[in-house]
Amino acid sequence: MKEIIDRRSIRKYKSDAVDKKDIEIIIKAGILAPSAKNRQPWKYIVYTDEPKNHLLDEMEKGLIRERDGKQLLPKSQNGLPDAFHTLKIMREAPVLIIVENTNGQSPYKSIDADGRITEICDILSIGASIQNILLAATELGYGTLWIANTCFAYDELVDFIGISGQLVGAISLGYSDEHPNPRPRKSVEEIIEYRV
Ligand SMILES: Cc1cc2nc3c(=O)[nH]c(=O)nc-3n(C[C@H](O)[C@H](O)[C@H](O)COP(=O)(O)O)c2cc1C
Repeated sequence: MKEIIDRRSIRKYKSDAVDKKDIEIIIKAGILAPSAKNRQPWKYIVYTDEPKNHLLDEMEKGLIRERDGKQLLPKSQNGLPDAFHTLKIMREAPVLIIVENTNGQSPYKSIDADGRITEICDILSIGASIQNILLAATELGYGTLWIANTCFAYDELVDFIGISGQLVGAISLGYSDEHPNPRPRKSVEEIIEYRV
């Protein structure tokens, strides 16, 4: 419970490097998550230093294309300023972990109902794995941010990274340079319905 309560989304990082051994411990927590049919459909690609800078240059190209050129997510344009802000955070964090659904496909491809059910189960599994990662990082004294704003540069990032599955998002990791208050939560009364 301590890590569940203490975890925050961290958007300011110190430049100090993260120990590779800690990255392994943190990702090992991810593989302990439950997964649908034990498919374990996750892959984590760890970026630091120059490779991370190049990756984020590609993401920036995608965000600029989405803003000034061909819009692949036209109904989500109001999320773009936040995506540029997230990009800044990703540049600052010393480590960026790309999250791949090895069983998934591009959101620009159509999907039937069976495929959607499988995708929902795989994404839920990956969500559980990501949360394990965030909590393990919190226990080791690191800050993290769960990132989905990679979606605006989906094709650019997939091409650059060489992903054959589905790009789910990313996790930034590093020592926190802020102490945010807890974000508001719905009350338990609001979200539980008893039928007893
Ligand atoms: C699936 C998912 C995607 C998210 N994507 C982003 C993102 O791209 N950029 C960002 O700044 N925060 C992102 N967040 C963080 C949320 O904004 C944050 O979890 C929420 O506001 C609650 O704050 P807390 O994590 O500090 O409790 C994401 C969180 C989740 C679960």
